[in-house]
Amino acid sequence: MTYKEKIDKSRLPAHVAIIMDGNGRWAKQRGYDRIVGHQNGVTSVRETTEAAAEIGIKYLTLYAFSTENWGRPKQEVDALMELLVGTIEKETPTLNKNNVRLLAIGDLARLPEGAEKKLRNCLKQTENNTGLSLVLALSYSSRWEITAAVKAMCQEVKAGSLNPDDISDETVSSHLNTCNMPDPDLLIRTSGELRISNFLLWQLAYTELYFTETHWPDFRKENFYQAIYEYQQRERRFGKQSEQLTTENGEPKNNL
Ligand code: FPP
Repeated sequence: MTYKEKIDKSRLPAHVAIIMDGNGRWAKQRGYDRIVGHQNGVTSVRETTEAAAEIGIKYLTLYAFSTENWGRPKQEVDALMELLVGTIEKETPTLNKNNVRLLAIGDLARLPEGAEKKLRNCLKQTENNTGLSLVLALSYSSRWEITAAVKAMCQEVKAGSLNPDDISDETVSSHLNTCNMPDPDLLIRTSGELRISNFLLWQLAYTELYFTETHWPDFRKENFYQAIYEYQQRERRFGKQSEQLTTENGEPKNNL
């Protein structure tokens, strides 16, 4: 039985986020330049997006380029930018055909002007699609996002439109780039590193974490389905006791 067949379709995570790691190591092991790893990572992006759409996942967020990645050698940054924006442009008709809505989070103003323009054009072209939302984290870091949210809230307080006493969890969430999305239910990180790396720190508060040794360029649909299957074997308690996690009918409430 495949993992895809083993998944309980009635208890799917609404939002899966992925830290796509290991492109460089995958390339190095084969004696290639790092960019070849990134190029092969595109196949995994395609496979994972298809896999998510096929079973009806609502949100898939991919960490494609972090704020820290700007510090890599210029040659790699330029090649990555070209690959990212080139792939997005090339894949936009397929996204439209499959009713996938493309969204982006991060400091997009930091992208090279041409890249930002092309990206915004692709976002616009898919904005009315109602199937999977594919969220690309580009020039993204969680501390950047939270700092920007704090600044925005301070401005509102200063302008008199926000009362500090009224600031709640929801107020903070509504000032983040992810304001209209559910928090991730499942985070996958490939390539064996056991870190969050400045990704969705606020949003991951109760997310199930799944780490795999597989390098991102080797990640395929069955790897994705295995992660979902293993997520479904866990009990999510959200800070409560196991016994509290039943409905009035005695049915389990976890993984809803
Ligand atoms: C991490 O591997 C990966 C990245 C920084 C870039 C991810 C980009 C892609 C997969 C390209 C295509 C993406 C889209 C959305 C079209 P690493 O370089 O940190 O690997 P290492 O840790 O082995 O060095």
